[in-house]
Amino acid sequence: MKNTELIEKLYENQNLEDCELLQLINTISEEEREKLFYYARRVREREYGNDVYIRGLIEFTNVCKNDCYYCGIRKSNDKVERYRLTLDEILECAREGYVLGFRTFVLQGGEDSYFTKEKIGKIVKCIKNEFPDCAITLSVGERTYDEYEYWWNMGADRYLLRHETANEVHYKKLHPYNMSLENRKECLYSLRKIGYQVGAGFMVDSPYQTTDNLVEDLRFMQDLRPHMIGIGPYLSHENTPFNNQKNGSLQQTLVLLAIIRLLFPKVLLPATTALGTIDPNGRELGLKAGANVVMPNLSPVRVRKKYELYDNKICTGEESAQCRNCLNLRVESTGYHIVTDIGNSRIQ
Ligand code: SAM
Ligand code: FES
Repeated sequence: MKNTELIEKLYENQNLEDCELLQLINTISEEEREKLFYYARRVREREYGNDVYIRGLIEFTNVCKNDCYYCGIRKSNDKVERYRLTLDEILECAREGYVLGFRTFVLQGGEDSYFTKEKIGKIVKCIKNEFPDCAITLSVGERTYDEYEYWWNMGADRYLLRHETANEVHYKKLHPYNMSLENRKECLYSLRKIGYQVGAGFMVDSPYQTTDNLVEDLRFMQDLRPHMIGIGPYLSHENTPFNNQKNGSLQQTLVLLAIIRLLFPKVLLPATTALGTIDPNGRELGLKAGANVVMPNLSPVRVRKKYELYDNKICTGEESAQCRNCLNLRVESTGYHIVTDIGNSRIQ
């Protein structure tokens, strides 16, 4: 089948065979890409109109016990100045965000055991008490079922845990021996079982990734049925073992965003900071390829540079209000608009 026919088939059936996905990803031309993006936009507009949801990202600790080979805040990077925000500082970020129209706060950090079950529970409870009309998303890595359940009972609503890659061999190439894909997948299924709205995802063009791996990622997510899917290009960081690896491609990321929109019509799909870093117009192009969420930074400016997952990360110098205004203009330029809404998933 020709690529144009595959795109129509994907739009109509919300699925393709493995070999068809492989063909589309590997051989799509510039003209065919435009057609793919057009269909992805049709689906996103059918499901969400012109609305774009915003999530305020609070990067509350850059301490991490893991040593993922791609990540700028990995344990072995001794050039990073480590920080932890206090409960008051986190609440201050949320207050600032609320005034700016944010109704979701994403608490993200490295895997930092200083933040015990109880400490994170308290943070969640305090934010929820002050802002009962807001959703709280946690993104603090692999923890126990008991911890996930405790935070859920304290009021957490959502959890972001990218699976990174659904292929065992590839996973081992990206992570040291003490990390396991099996456990990461199990965490995702546990979170879903507890009742969280769950986000999975992966980096596009991460080192050693093949197109077969990407198809496995899509199949894994069809099984998991996440409410959110976070993807962005892999970007290298100078103080990691992958510092010589090539950055991911803008076009490949856009193609995958569009395919994901067509495979998962209702999914919440961010145009990520990494996409905005690889190209100054990356997030706008992401929105035009099916994305419907943006996640600006609400962290205090003094720590932003210290949460550098990859080189040249954007928005590390601006105040939250500046970021919010800049993003407003960017989103408006695409014909879509940011809404003040909790932006819950429509997937059961
Ligand atoms: N510790 C939590 C976890 O493991 O889920 C959350 C923080 S972690 C830094 C968030 C995400 O950043 C990872 O899931 C990964 O996909 C992404 N990331 C890390 N290093 C990156 C890089 N060099 N380029 C692009 N994305 C990266
Ligand atoms: Fe832990 Fe990246 S290695 S957050």
